[in-house]
Amino acid sequence: MSDNFRRIRSYVIRVARMSESQKKAYSELYPNWVIPFDGAQLDWDDLFPGAVKRIVEIGFGMGDATRQVAAENPDWGILGIEVHKPGVGKLLWWIDQEKLGNLYIIEHDAVEVLFDMIPAESVDGFHIWFPDPWPKKRHHKRRLIQPEIVEMLKRALKPGAYIHVATDWEPYAEHILSVFRNADGLKNRFAEWAQKPDYRPDTKFENRGIVAERTIRDIIFEKEKI
Ligand SMILES: C[S@@+](CC[C@H](N)C(=O)[O-])C[C@H]1O[C@@H](n2cnc3c(N)ncnc32)[C@H](O)[C@@H]1O
Repeated sequence: MSDNFRRIRSYVIRVARMSESQKKAYSELYPNWVIPFDGAQLDWDDLFPGAVKRIVEIGFGMGDATRQVAAENPDWGILGIEVHKPGVGKLLWWIDQEKLGNLYIIEHDAVEVLFDMIPAESVDGFHIWFPDPWPKKRHHKRRLIQPEIVEMLKRALKPGAYIHVATDWEPYAEHILSVFRNADGLKNRFAEWAQKPDYRPDTKFENRGIVAERTIRDIIFEKEKI
């Protein structure tokens, strides 16, 4: 992948104040649960010894859904990637409140993490729930789901493992379906839209979409076994 592509940002750093509890969690718990972005390949066995699944969530926002998935699936190892500092503070707070031992965070651009730190054929599932839709045409290049990034996601998946995207933005849903269908070696687990699986909680952004009466789409593809 070209350096130009790596410079494209799928997010904007939002100026948002952290609450006192987020600040406290951020300053006290960061060293325990946040993995520095250092470009070194992750050692999953070291991070999550004995985990039955290794899940990577990209863009967890304020982390409410991440917390729930971690709490409900204690035998999964979950890596959450986010650039929004208050969200990192909030999820650290949850880790402490609920004594979650199966969740680590990387506070960095997920595209770079994908390139530099996730070993090939090592991930059981990617959760990408309500990624920014970038609705304006001139911003489409900032979308997370596009062929080059899907190639990187595919490379990181074990054979048979999945990418699960959810969105409330219909044109983005159509775009995602088309990008996945055109990716060699990925196959849809459903005929078209997926049924929302039990492991996916409602998310904060999903609830905004529901209030706005938008249709929620889940899309789940898996890496073909050769
Ligand atoms: C629309 S929000 C959805 C948050 C959450 N998943 C939810 O459903 O409530 C998208 C999130 O993805 C994060 N994000 C976007 N691109 C990212 C990237 N390349 N690396 C890490 N986080 C990213 C943003 O900071 C934002 O918090």
